[in-house]
Amino acid sequence: MLTRVNFFLGFALMAVFVLLSLMRVDHSKPNYQVNLGDDMTYSPAYGSFEPNGNFANGRTMQSPVPGTIARGTQLFHFEATPQDAIRAGEELLNPLDINTEEGAASIARGAAAFKIFCVVCHGGDGKGNGPVAQRGFPPPPSLLTGKSKDMKDGQLFHLLTYGQNSMPQFAAQLSSARRWDMINYIRSLQKVENEKPKVETEESKVESDEPAAEQEPPDETETES
Ligand code: HEC
Repeated sequence: MLTRVNFFLGFALMAVFVLLSLMRVDHSKPNYQVNLGDDMTYSPAYGSFEPNGNFANGRTMQSPVPGTIARGTQLFHFEATPQDAIRAGEELLNPLDINTEEGAASIARGAAAFKIFCVVCHGGDGKGNGPVAQRGFPPPPSLLTGKSKDMKDGQLFHLLTYGQNSMPQFAAQLSSARRWDMINYIRSLQKVENEKPKVETEESKVESDEPAAEQEPPDETETES
């Protein structure tokens, strides 16, 4: 009887050893997994950031061939200098007219992206009072009434591409198409601002008891160029 138990225990022990030898335990990973045989846990493909002996620079992810232009990318032959910002204003054309249906769609896309990328500094209405600016970051000028009103579209594109002083650059976050959307959105804000009756000048604030109806409508011929 005893020998039969011993025989069984001996067999069980051997079975455990056989199973253990089949297991591959990866101690380098947290909650390490026990794999019986090959399964699909480990892909033979290289991870993007894994070292890779097949390339001279030892990386898996390779840079594009020099001179490669991604589809839909607009060529941009301008340096990050004030002179080239002016030149961009003269040479770069906005691909869309904001007064068309396509332009309206572009403005809508620009508005959505503005909420994500610009509101922190420029504020929801573009007046330069975003939360970051209210807590000590140099407040940006108003996009409604500031210099950007007189900048050409191409110069704004240059500004969004390279940044300006403490305004960060957005070439990496926003595709060129999205940067134009942004510019179209800013133009639409400026247009609305421009068409508002000019009620809030300093004088009108002082003598503001007058009913608003007496304010003169904005003069169409009066431009501030
Ligand atoms: C980190 C804060 C910050 C963010 C985010 C930011 N800006 Fe600015 N922006 C500034 C500052 C500061 C200036 C003023 C730069 C200067 O002094 O020349 C500025 C200037 C500008 C101007 C020129 C205004 C003028 O009158 O000279 C435009 C246009 C502009 N930003 C658009 C944008 C757009 C569009 C976005 C989002 C894609 C954006 N900014 C995101 C801080 C920011």
